[in-house]
Amino acid sequence: MARRIAVVGSINMDLVTQATRFPQPGETLLGEDFVTVPGGKGANQAVAAARLGATVTLIGALGRDGFGDQLHAGLRHEGVDLAHLRRLDDQASGTASITVAGGENQIVVVPAANAGLMPAHVEAARDAIARADVVLVQMEIPLETVDATLRLGQQLGVPVIFNPAPARPLPAEWLARARYVTPNQHELAVLLGADPAEDFRTLMRRAPGPVVLTRGGEGAWYREQGEPRHQRGFAVEAIDSTGAGDTFNAALAVFLHEGLAAAVRKACAAAALSVTRLGAQRGMPRAGELDAFLAAAPSPRP
Ligand code: RIB
Repeated sequence: MARRIAVVGSINMDLVTQATRFPQPGETLLGEDFVTVPGGKGANQAVAAARLGATVTLIGALGRDGFGDQLHAGLRHEGVDLAHLRRLDDQASGTASITVAGGENQIVVVPAANAGLMPAHVEAARDAIARADVVLVQMEIPLETVDATLRLGQQLGVPVIFNPAPARPLPAEWLARARYVTPNQHELAVLLGADPAEDFRTLMRRAPGPVVLTRGGEGAWYREQGEPRHQRGFAVEAIDSTGAGDTFNAALAVFLHEGLAAAVRKACAAAALSVTRLGAQRGMPRAGELDAFLAAAPSPRP
């Protein structure tokens, strides 16, 4: 049976420029390519989970503008349930200005309508959240809305995967309310108010609950209790890493019922596939594509 996933999060139009390198401050570069593609961490996670076969509800906010119309149509086309998607009057939709160079990215997000997603909107989606097998939430929406989501998940007994991106320092009790916190190394250090240069395994042991830590092409480390364990990444040719973390989180949510180790392996494989195309959502695999990729058993990186 399809897994039910509720996503509380941002929806952006991504304005993506591909260049051979990043410009210096004050410098003008000639770019290679430009695309306008749907993005936003919440929308990306919703689309990735839907492509992997889940039944997905997105709790989010768009403006009443042209980008909002396009993003709404795109999400509907992907089969995401939009009953709890708000269109906010007199608001622009969120945007992300992204430069991609050498497989890496730089991103400036303007939240716009995403900043209007309030705890009351999460409360209004209580029934959808109660029916979910897993809830996903990130940090491109107001902190009070993140808090409301973590509290509601805990109250309803629905596991919440908390992807703390972009990271800000948070009280330890927030992290403890999540079933899993899924930062990268930098984000975990920021969350804990620690030195980013500190060994990530030490940081993981300091977290107040279970952590799944993403390490880009190196794969992921996960820790429920005791020592962190490692899942190696899958070797692919990386074109654009934008949305890889979102694909990882979505796959983790979709496959969590198979056990954490199996879910992390599939999440690493889905994330690897996602970086092979330009644009956050373009590379996100469908269930069959992920199965074929895993069956062909490309060697995880040494
Ligand atoms: O995680 C990738 C996303 O971050 C992009 O799609 C962009 O919209 C930013 O929100």
